[in-house]
Amino acid sequence: MIAPPLPNGPTDRLKRPLRNLRISVTDRCNLRCRYCMPEAEYAWLPRESILTFEEIDRVVGIFAALGVRKVRLTGGEPLLRHDLATLVSLIARHDAIADMALTTNGVLLARQAAALRTAGLRRVTVSLDTLRPERMQEFARSARHADVVSGIDAARSAGFSSIKMNTVVIRGYNDDEVLDLLEFARDRGLEARFIEYMDVGGATGWAMDQVVSQREILELVAGRYGPVRELREAGWAPAQRFALHDGTVFGVIASTTAPFCRTCDRGRLTADGTFLLCLYGEVGLDLRELLRGGASDGEIVERIASAWRARNDRGAEERAELADRGILHRIESLRADTRREMHTRGG
Ligand code: GTP
Ligand code: 5AD
Ligand code: SF4
Repeated sequence: MIAPPLPNGPTDRLKRPLRNLRISVTDRCNLRCRYCMPEAEYAWLPRESILTFEEIDRVVGIFAALGVRKVRLTGGEPLLRHDLATLVSLIARHDAIADMALTTNGVLLARQAAALRTAGLRRVTVSLDTLRPERMQEFARSARHADVVSGIDAARSAGFSSIKMNTVVIRGYNDDEVLDLLEFARDRGLEARFIEYMDVGGATGWAMDQVVSQREILELVAGRYGPVRELREAGWAPAQRFALHDGTVFGVIASTTAPFCRTCDRGRLTADGTFLLCLYGEVGLDLRELLRGGASDGEIVERIASAWRARNDRGAEERAELADRGILHRIESLRADTRREMHTRGG
């Protein structure tokens, strides 16, 4: 159970509390998924600008005081950050953080799963877009498919309370694998979540006709398994969850065709310490400067609270309202500010 928001925690202009923090621990990645990092070359954040574990630990305490109860570690690929289990154990010491999870591409998970679990991590989400190694080669420029599957198996053995599988569904690429992926997840006790292809920064190849909508995904599933029941949950999570006749539960994240900005309680922290109010947000609050410039916790709390009170963002809804929807950022604009990239702001 997630603790209720602090009675005096900040709410934004759309009355949304700040309860959930996604922390990108590195902008680097060992895959090149077409929907996220399709370019041949990337500029990386300077090493000295990346928050240290001590700084992240302090920031988590500050956000907990503001009402944050859920933390998700992400990237880039978070397992590329040396000794991530140490950071997990630091965050696990914050009693207010009732839920901590990790989003990973799974390539390095096999060797780290047990240590992460021991350090106090309880939930992991592994991205898996195809069951076919040759497709992964083409789609993510990686030959590590078997490692991802071993990573999933290691997570199952390590005893996580929940393991989810994230699949971005793209027309003409993996939409013919939705049912196979659902069965793969069901057979292993994972909760499958099918994600609509989003026009986030970094997705320079995005086009509306490649988006497979929630409606289509549900039709595909119902075509094979019969009627799909929606689990009506009064939640703040991006996924809508559904059940098959046999009790198998899966989720769909319909961020492109049915955005959920009205219930978005998420802030995000880039690897270099910029606090962003929205996945699509342009400007952020530079927490690194405050942390390294001698600001007190109380001062930083105030700065974050006032940024959150001014928050009016509903990026995905605004994108959905556009008559002629194209890519969000051209490559030049991503190069001008790498914080616009999904892999920098937390996928
Ligand atoms: P839990 O439900 O707590 O397991 O987490 P989650 O679903 O928020 O986490 P996950 O990292 O698995 O997010 C799944 C996907 O939802 C992401 O990869 C994004 O595609 C999308 N997503 C996450 N956060 C946001 C957000 O703030 N806005 C939008 N529009 N989409 C998001
Ligand atoms: N559309 C949808 N999801 C995306 N992700 C990254 N880029 C996109 C995109 N363009 C998400 C995926 C992936 C996670 C790390 O980031 O869910 O599994
Ligand atoms: Fe793929 Fe995630 Fe790496 Fe992006 S950050 S290229 S989605 S594995």
